[in-house]
Amino acid sequence: MAGRVIILLGPPGAGKGTQARLLEQDFGLIQLSTGDLLRAAVREGTAAGLAAKAVMEAGALVGDDIVLAILRDRMAEPDVAAGVILDGFPRTAVQAQALDRLLAETGQQVDAAISLEVDDAAMVARIAGRHTCAGCGEGYHDDFRRPAVAGVCDRCGGTAFTRRADDRAETVGERLRAYHAQTAPLIAYYDARGCLARVDAMADIAEVRSALARLVGGVPA
Ligand code: AP5
Repeated sequence: MAGRVIILLGPPGAGKGTQARLLEQDFGLIQLSTGDLLRAAVREGTAAGLAAKAVMEAGALVGDDIVLAILRDRMAEPDVAAGVILDGFPRTAVQAQALDRLLAETGQQVDAAISLEVDDAAMVARIAGRHTCAGCGEGYHDDFRRPAVAGVCDRCGGTAFTRRADDRAETVGERLRAYHAQTAPLIAYYDARGCLARVDAMADIAEVRSALARLVGGVPA
């Protein structure tokens, strides 16, 4: 790949997926979500999916080996040459170092790591209200992002919606704990490299989108 590499860091519910999809639309970058890739592996019943399912439902992090194998396969696909928004990856120091090595193989490095800064308490409400169109995957929220016509997806007109198995209140607490213990230290890792930016992600979705657009628009191609 030769395009830009932008990382979105932030706890569960910070808005990584929401904003990664908007950055895809705005800048033609490819959203690469390890959570989505793992959920697809679970649905397909692959060996990686079978190993990941119970770990994800408990709110813990899936093993680095599994995640890195899935990411490496996805990064080898041709569309990634447009540049990527990494959503939910890296999440551990081991993953961050492996990403550096993978990019170095093609003379690249991380262009920007953007930390979406939020309060833990608000994250529980965001996750509890989240649901997704079963047809096209468009994301909604019971309070913060409703379809224009109740019960009908704005994007594809679908009327069936799903909620994630790990979006129960007790699992969200474990996911936040895993974030603070294993992922939050990456903020200092990228800060030390001089490529960290912070965005107030307590603002509404449109304001966060504008802040990210200013940052991503300013990162050289
Ligand atoms: P993953 O799928 O990555 O989930 P997550 O990090 O827990 O993040 P979420 O998808 O819950 O939240 P988000 O930040 O994308 O927020 P969203 O935009 O949806 O990972 C799931 C699991 O997979 C992990 O627990 C782990 O087991 C495993 N995994 C994945 N990657 C891994 C890795 N690299 N290593 C190891 N394990 C890994 O927004 C949430 C809701 O809020 C939505 O309803 C949205 O509409 C709403 N919303 C968004 N922004 C705003 C706003 N500004 N104001 C109000 N509402 C908003």
